[in-house]
Formats: sequence, C-alpha cells, structure tokens
Amino acid sequence: MSPTPSRRSFLKHGAAAAAAASTALATGARARDAEERGPLKVGLVGCGGRGTGAASQALSAEDGTVVLWAMADVFSDHLDSSLRNLSHAMGEERADRIQVSEDRRFVGFDAYEKLLASGVDVVLLATPPHFRPAHLRAAIEAGKHVFTEKPIAVDFPGIRHVLDTVAMAERKQLSLVSGFCWRYNTRHRAFYKRLHNGHLGDLRAVYATYNASPLGTHERKPEWSETEFQLRNWQHFTWLSGDHLVEQAVHSVDKLGWAFGDEAPRRVVAVGGRAQHEGEARGNVFDHFSATFEYDEGIKGFLMCRQWAGASYENSDYYYGAKGHAIINGWAEQHEFFGDNPWRYDGEGNDMYQQEHDVLFASIRAGRPINDGRWMTNSTLMALMARAAAYTGQTISYEQAMESEERLGPDTYAWGDFAAHPVAIPGQRKFI
Ligand SMILES: NC(=O)c1ccc[n+]([C@@H]2O[C@H](COP(=O)([O-])OP(=O)(O)OC[C@H]3O[C@@H](n4cnc5c(N)ncnc54)[C@H](O)[C@@H]3O)[C@@H](O)[C@H]2O)c1
Repeated sequence: MSPTPSRRSFLKHGAAAAAAASTALATGARARDAEERGPLKVGLVGCGGRGTGAASQALSAEDGTVVLWAMADVFSDHLDSSLRNLSHAMGEERADRIQVSEDRRFVGFDAYEKLLASGVDVVLLATPPHFRPAHLRAAIEAGKHVFTEKPIAVDFPGIRHVLDTVAMAERKQLSLVSGFCWRYNTRHRAFYKRLHNGHLGDLRAVYATYNASPLGTHERKPEWSETEFQLRNWQHFTWLSGDHLVEQAVHSVDKLGWAFGDEAPRRVVAVGGRAQHEGEARGNVFDHFSATFEYDEGIKGFLMCRQWAGASYENSDYYYGAKGHAIINGWAEQHEFFGDNPWRYDGEGNDMYQQEHDVLFASIRAGRPINDGRWMTNSTLMALMARAAAYTGQTISYEQAMESEERLGPDTYAWGDFAAHPVAIPGQRKFI
C-alpha cells in the first residue's frame, strides 16, 4: 500500500485529471488507430440498468469501431435481459456491434476474471459498488482501459485500495473514466469554470440536496439463499451499496467536492436514521442523512439527502461566495449566478452519459489516457466519512477515515447465509 496521501494531494491530482478530461482529442489520430487496430472490444461487468446503458453508450461512441465482446454478471437472467435490450437498441443496422458469443457470457462471482481473460480492450464496471475495488484492480492489472460507475468503494480500506489502483493505471498509461456523470455535463462544466475563475469571489459554503423517493425492493423467493436475497436488494444493504448517501447522493457530494477543488474535508459531522423504511427487503440502510463537511478557515459544505415517499423532492446545489451566490438545479436545468457577476447558462446541453464514453474512446484511440481516479476517490471518501459520522454519532476526521480498518461484507463470496449488520444506532455503533 502507498502511504496515506495528505488531504491536499487529492486536490493536486484532481485538478490534473479534470484538465485532461477537457483536452480536445485529435480525430486524425483516432481514425488512424481505428484503421490499424480494428474495433475496440468492450466487456461489461454488471449487466443491470446502468451497465446496459453504459454498454449502449460505448457502442455509440465511435462510428462502428467499438464492439461488445463479453458480458459478466452474477445472475444469468440479468445478463440475458441486458443482451436482449442491447440487441433491440442496436437494431438490425448496428447488429454487428454486438459480438457476445455464448462462450463469452460469464456468470458467477468469478465471471469478471473470465471476462478479463476473454480478449477485451476496455471494461465497463457497473456492479453494486461493494465489488468495485477488486474489479477495478483486476482490470488495471490485466492492462484494460476502464469506465467505472460511481461510487468507487463502500468502506475506507476500499478507498485506499482504489488509490493504489489509480496510481497503477497512471503508471500503465491506461484510461480510467468515472461515472460521476455531472463532470461530463456541458452546463455544469460552464458553471464550474466560472466558479473556479472566482466569479463568486472566495467560496464560503455550499449546500447540496438529494431528496428523492425510495428505491424498489424484491420480495424473498423460497429458492433464494440469503446472499441472493441481499444481492437482488443490494441498494438496501450497506455492505453492497454503501447506503443511499454513498450510492445515490454521492452525486451531490461529488459536486460539493468539485466546488472545493477536490480537496478532502478536514472532518465531517452528520445525523441520519430510518423514519420510513420497514421490512426485511429494506435491509439495514438509513433513509435520511444530513452532513456538514468542514474545511479550513471556517469554510463548510452541507448536504441533505433522503429517500422518502410523500415528501418534497429536490436535487439542487447552492453556492455562497464573497461576491454573491449561485444555484444549480440539475432537474430544472438552472445554472445561475447572482450578485456582482450575474450570469445564467443559456447554451447547448449535452448527453453527459454519452460524453463519458466519447471522451473515453477518443482518449484510447489518441493514446492520451484520462485518469479521473483521484477526484472520484475523494468524492466517495467524503460520502463514506459522512455515513460513518451518521452511523456512529462521532465527528470523523480525514486521518481517522484513512486509518479505518473496517471492511464491509464477507471475506469470500458464495451463495450462503451471510448476515448483514443490524441497522446502526448512533452513539452505540463504534467507529473501527
Ligand atoms: N451515474 C449514474 O447516474 C448512475 C445511475 C444508476 C446507477 N449507477 C451506478 O451503477 C451501478 C449499478 O447500478 P444499477 O442501477 O445498474 O444496478 P442494477 O441492479 O440494475 O445492476 C447491477 C448488476 O450487477 C450485477 N452484479 C451484482 N454483483 C455482481 C458481481 N459480483 N459480479 C458481476 N455482476 C454483479 C447484478 O446482478 C446486476 O445485474 C451502481 O454503482 C450505481 O450506483 C450510476
């Protein structure tokens, strides 16, 4: 393991990665590479909703020079329906982009290893986040370029593992593009450019919200083991999803981290609990959190997130600086500055999910690797600090987080009777 990076080292690497992501990529180099090397072969690990979407975007990233080569999932029904949906999406016209022969459809906990050995060039990681550190490490060790969904880990040992993998990807000159999609949104990028250019003056505080409705559940079937029950309800088990703050509201945490230059907070204090969640399929996650991220000089970030039925919904970010304030309302597409330098974005939008893959494949073709690793890890770290603060009732410092040894989930994977933690009670749950 590398020594623990200082809080500010996230900042240094984050800035470099963001700059790389915006680099214009030469189309000439891309075309030459496509001619010489042929199609880029993609492997999808985790064939659910997002994985299927990501595969479709990968296949649309270049004009016929990306093919889906292999697929991996723990459940064959998920793999089959993903393949059907992708074939439907490609239609007859683009049917040749799907080349997943039967011997390249892998099922089981070791499916990702078989996929990595099947001749793919690029891997899309879209399983529940628990598996991400191990899958990412294996992909980079095998020399593959990666698109990885957020979040990147569910515990602090996972964060440290990923940081090492990110450095390995840098050394191996492999592209590593993150599914923190707002970073690839044209409107957000224009907004953040102004923010970082000082149009609000010194940034004092950011308040972010992700107030949404509860996610669906799957009733237990008699033939399922406990592990299968939990995996089919993965969003509701902390060891698999990280809890909704880490799995869903991490998008808002990511925007908060982005605003503060991708520097890790000094410490985090938080509250949370279960006001509505009932029933075994709702696992052990909380349904609401509120967190305060403390930086130097009294600068603070605030987050509220919940998954409640019958309550108001909001996904907005509010920025307060010395020269005014600003708002992003992601769902209403409002990006606006008020105060000394008023401004409202009225340019074109883009498909941020497609953009992630356009940038990834262009970087591979051009031989100019992108590495989103540092900032995506910092954003996940921030969310984990907030969850730990809420679960334990303690104030969690950056140093404590980076020294935590608590690893969530079983040591090995099998269809059995793994017992998840009981719901955390703040003040009683220990920080380990
Ligand atoms: N960026 C975004 O806007 C966005 C949106 C939705 C989901 N996501 C992220 O994408 C990931 C997947 O979410 P989803 O909504 O597609 O969930 P999903 O349940 O639809 O898909 C997950 C898939 O992974 C499979 N899987 C589980 N464990 C596996 C393992 N060990 N090996 C191989 N396959 C495994 C499941 O069977 C399932 O098919 C999550 O990390 C989620 O946070 C991101």
